[in-house]
This record gives sequence, structure tokens and C-alpha cells, in this order.
Amino acid sequence: MLAGGGGERPRHAAQGRTGDGAYSVPFDDEVSNPLEEEKDMKSIRFVALGGVLALGLAACSGGGAGSSSGDETNADPSDLTIGVAMPTETSERWIADGDAVKSQLEEAGYTVDLQYAADDIPTQAQQIDQMITKGADLLIVASIDGTALANQLQAAADQGIPVIAYDRLIRDTENVDFYVTFDNYNVGVQQATSLLVGLGILDAEGNEAGATGPFNIELFAGSLDDNNAHFFFKGAMDTLQPYIDNGTLVVKSGQTEIEQVATLRWLQETAQKRMEDLLTSTYSDGTKVNGVLSPYDGISRGIITALQNAGYGDSIEAGLPIVTGQDAEIASVKLIKDGVQFSTIFKDTRKLAEQAVVSAQAFLEGDEPEANNTEDYDNGVKVVPSFLLESDIVYADNIQSLLIDSGYWTEEEVAAGQAS
Ligand code: BGC
Repeated sequence: MLAGGGGERPRHAAQGRTGDGAYSVPFDDEVSNPLEEEKDMKSIRFVALGGVLALGLAACSGGGAGSSSGDETNADPSDLTIGVAMPTETSERWIADGDAVKSQLEEAGYTVDLQYAADDIPTQAQQIDQMITKGADLLIVASIDGTALANQLQAAADQGIPVIAYDRLIRDTENVDFYVTFDNYNVGVQQATSLLVGLGILDAEGNEAGATGPFNIELFAGSLDDNNAHFFFKGAMDTLQPYIDNGTLVVKSGQTEIEQVATLRWLQETAQKRMEDLLTSTYSDGTKVNGVLSPYDGISRGIITALQNAGYGDSIEAGLPIVTGQDAEIASVKLIKDGVQFSTIFKDTRKLAEQAVVSAQAFLEGDEPEANNTEDYDNGVKVVPSFLLESDIVYADNIQSLLIDSGYWTEEEVAAGQAS
């Protein structure tokens, strides 16, 4: 289990990225609903909700348990149910997210309906439908396919149920009210930076360290239906491109487009297979791959397995390339400690959960949650007001300070490579 249930405010909430043009939203749709319209809409929704509730209350005193009843702005938390939809239990981070959101909401007095969808899109849609039918007062949703929930969210809007997108943006709907996440573009920058550090091109402070290569690298991205995958890849490519342009880095396969390097559902086996294919198609002439940009620890482990099976050795020292990651999953943290995987990105799920809870409380008390970014997360219909948290690069030498001292993993868990 992850230690610590959160409860403290994030120590270093990210400042919103300003519109410096450093990156654009990953899809081409135009913003059709500016924030002001969204605010008006929400006020209308709450007014409408108030009206419906007033009628309902006049008709019968007191709502049933779990019903979307009672004026949320005055309701006792114990009368309110929050539906929490999480994508999958096959990855530790989502279990940690679900646990943290549930326990923090329960501490605040709310009833929680937490569901995991085994990475199956229809299952998640059905779970959300059921949450609405059972009378959820607010939804927190970490989507599987960010484009597949428009119907569910329309049903939520029709009943005045606020929706918070959790970590992954929900796209193509105006009915998402708020977004809590990390600075996903910066996560990609950090992944690429750690690759450059591992290759000796940059030092840990980000200064040029002298290595000029050329180094052969390969690129992996996440699932194309996850908005985050585009942000991670864009941040990473903006960081790597100058070194590709000056010949320090060579993507030997030539596969540099996200569509060529994506990994559906972020699956380890899929990544392993693609790495095996790359080794056969591109490196059977005896050349070696020196670095691999990996966007997620499960994918990293698939890549590492393929490389080890192909005779690259058991550790970086023995010849494995530099492989990056994300999520500080315990199996990968041990690999980093043992010099097998080079880095990961730590996103403290306790802090994200806390932000989701604070935002949920704001809605349920009739307020607007505090956003620190109102520019970057265009979901294809509108820019969704967002709260972004910061992440950290984990290397072997800061596992202690970042992960153990903060109580995210214990020393024993890191040594075992397993959550206890
Ligand atoms: C999350 C990452 C995670 C990935 C795979 C993304 O949406 O932001 O933290 O590694 O999904 O689960």
C-alpha cells in the first residue's frame, strides 16, 4: 500500500503555463466556447438545479439516500454521493489514485461510489451511467478514452451534476466543468531531459555536459485516445528536436510521429513487441540503440525486457540503453535503484487526489474551484479550467528524498520492488 493518505495542501502547486506559444493543444478543433460562456452555463445549470430541487423538495421532504437531492450548497456532506470512475487496476498509480480520492472524500464526510473499468470503454460508460442513475451529486472521472464519454456527461449535465476530469482530459463535450492534473507538457520535457542526462548530453542541472554522440534513440508514446499522451510527447519532442537537428541524436528507425510510436492502452506487452520489432528491423546490422524515450513505467519494463532478451545485458552498466518512464511504479523504482531503468517521473497522486477533493467541495458548496491554468486544455469544445500540479524526475540518487522521505514508498518496498 502507498503510505500516507494526504491531507496536507500541495507543497508546490504549479503556476499556470502562460500562453507563450510553447505548445498547442494536441487536436485541431477550434475553441467554440470561451470560459465566460462556460461560467454562464454553469450558473444556469446550478440555477436550474436549484429550481428542480425546490420543486422536488416541495413535493417530498428530504431526498432518499444517494439521490441527487437536497440543495448541494447547503447539504450535509453525508447526504452527498460522489461517483469516482477510474480506468484500470492493472496499473498501480490508478489504484493509488482511487484509494486516495476515496479516503480523502470519506474523511470530508462524503459517500463515495468508486468504480474501476478494467480499461474497457463500454464498462466505464456503463459505470458512469449507473452512478448518475443512482443519484450521484458529483462525478470525478479518469477516462479510458477521453473522447468516448460525451453521452454520459450530457446526462450528468441534464441533471445538474458537476463533472471533474481527473488527470486525463475528457474531450468533445462542453459538460466537463473542471480538470485536475499535472503539468503534462512539462512531464514530457522532464522525460526527455532525463534521457539527455542519461546519455551525458546534459548534467543533472540541465547544463550541456559535453557528450555529442551521435546516439541512436527510439521513441515511444502512450495511448492516442488519452489526451495526456499528446502533451507528454509534445513536451518531449520539443526538448529532443534540437539534438536531433544537430545530429547528436539519431532516431534510427525514422519513426518520429506520435501515430507511429503510440502504444494503445499503454500496454507493456504492446511496447515489448514494438521494441522487439524495432531491434529486428533497425538494429540487426549490429548497431546499438543507446536510449529510449518511454512515457510510462509499464511501457519501460516492456522495452527493457525486449532489450535484455536481445542480449543488451542486465543493467545500464552492462550495456542496456537509457530508458525513461513515468509514475514511479514500485517495480520500476527498484529497477532504477538497481541501475536497470534510468529514470521515472514522480507524480504525487496524493496531491492530485487532494486537489480533486478540494475542487469537488467547491462545486458542492456552490463555488467555483480555483484554477491555475485557463489556457492550455482545450477539449475540442471549450478550454476547461484546470489546476495543474508539478512533477519531479526520479533518478537513482534521489529515490530516498523524493519517494521514501515523502512517505510515498517505504525503504522495504523499494528494496523488494513490491507494494506491501
Ligand atoms: C497518466 C500517466 C499514466 C498513463 C498510463 C496517463 O493518462 O497521466 O500518469 O502513466 O496514463 O496509465
